[in-house]
Amino acid sequence: MPTTPTLAETKQRLERTGQQHLIAFWETLDDARREQLLGAIARLPLEHLGSMMSQAASLSKPAAADIRPVRPYLRTMADADKYRAIGDDLVRRGKVAAFIVAGGQGTRLGWKGPKGTFPATPVAGKPLFRVFAEQILAAERAYGVRIPWFVMTSEANHHETERFFEDNRWFGRPRGDTMLFVQGMLPSVSTAGAVLLDQAWEPAINPDGHGGSLKALRQAGALDHMSASGIEHLCYFQVDNPNVHVIDPLFLGLHVAAPDSSAEMSSKSVLKRDVTEKVGVFVKAPRLMVLEYSDAPREVSEARDPDGSITYGEGSIAIHVIGVDFIRKLTDHPLGSVLPWHRAIKKVPFVDPATGTRAEPAEPNAIKLESFVFDALAEAEGPIVLRTDRVEEFAPIKNATGEDSPATSRALQVERAVRWLREAGVRVPCHANGQPDCTVEISPLTARGPEDLRRNPPQKSIAAGSETLL
Ligand code: UD1
Repeated sequence: MPTTPTLAETKQRLERTGQQHLIAFWETLDDARREQLLGAIARLPLEHLGSMMSQAASLSKPAAADIRPVRPYLRTMADADKYRAIGDDLVRRGKVAAFIVAGGQGTRLGWKGPKGTFPATPVAGKPLFRVFAEQILAAERAYGVRIPWFVMTSEANHHETERFFEDNRWFGRPRGDTMLFVQGMLPSVSTAGAVLLDQAWEPAINPDGHGGSLKALRQAGALDHMSASGIEHLCYFQVDNPNVHVIDPLFLGLHVAAPDSSAEMSSKSVLKRDVTEKVGVFVKAPRLMVLEYSDAPREVSEARDPDGSITYGEGSIAIHVIGVDFIRKLTDHPLGSVLPWHRAIKKVPFVDPATGTRAEPAEPNAIKLESFVFDALAEAEGPIVLRTDRVEEFAPIKNATGEDSPATSRALQVERAVRWLREAGVRVPCHANGQPDCTVEISPLTARGPEDLRRNPPQKSIAAGSETLL
């Protein structure tokens, strides 16, 4: 453990980097707070902030004329079975781990705890973390293998997340097969470049974005752990999507064996619902990238082909497979990773160093820097995209009400369950408008897809108006 720098050393560093105001209240602090402040300052990348900010400010968006659509693989492709078998083999040989990014603050949903603790499923109200854990457990049973699960949290939710896993006895999996680690934090900075103080003894900090997950994996020793246990590929997903197929053999098979893939990084898409849907889209400019909805010029987001289909319609559902060696390559960098910095201008409360009063700004006053994992696509050789089906794999919970809310997610979860049951020959009652006349939930431990239900049908029919948990 490195020792905390002394006050004299810290003063020199703050003078060198123009951040002296961070110790403006030194004289008013007790010893514990002083220690806390010195430790917090020591963790700030003050020497690099200037270059990070100017890089973020000059980050260019591709011009509409340079953007081309991507050609995804389709789940219905002719030799899907061949790739599925390759993926199955990879999982069976223990080459694959699951990786969730769960460090976000979930502000839009308005849920107080970590988002993974949110009760998401339509009948049992299972929390998101349980849904994912049961999926992993089901895959472990089906393949007869242990699948480690890496869980990235942030300083704001780490302890609560850990307690939740503990209270739930690690969802029936061996404790050592789930590895929680904390993502990095960066200072929130005034538009003039001064690090803000959240309290007199505490700089304002924010999580460094899901792109920070790559550096955090390395710093936590997770990459070494993976190499030592033969893990070569990570199935990356977000905390907000209960319909994700955490372990998908077709996706894994394409990632390692598609003719144009070099197994560095692969992604999944769904067709955009309409031109205004708030998802990033995969485009070539000329390298593969995700163009965020907020960055897409209108002539790109609203472009249509002559047949009426959305030209740039491959929406990113933030599901990737990432090679462990590729993560090592990306994180061989003095700042932890080669990913570019994006900036967001936000309202951040701060203590005014001149007056000592804490202000709640009415207007955005601060720059938060973060990096995005999908920017790694531009660094990857031969990244590929697999287009999947929206109902099958994308039921995000982002907002408290309206689009992408718990209600829309539950409806999609039921729609998928009904589809699986019908494919397996189970009769499902429906209303005159075709909507199912039942609420049904299929546990990942009951079936990982319609094939499991076909092999092992739970019942012949579902009762009208029932709430059924299978
Ligand atoms: C994200 C993607 C968008 C994609 C959509 C699909 C970004 C910028 N946009 O949008 O391209 O179409 O999902 O659902 O990512 N997280 C961390 N640490 C952080 C920040 C985020 O772990 O510092 C995690 C969150 O816990 C969450 C995920 O990253 O699991 C996504 O974060 P969020 O900010 O909610 O992204 P969206 O705006 O929903």
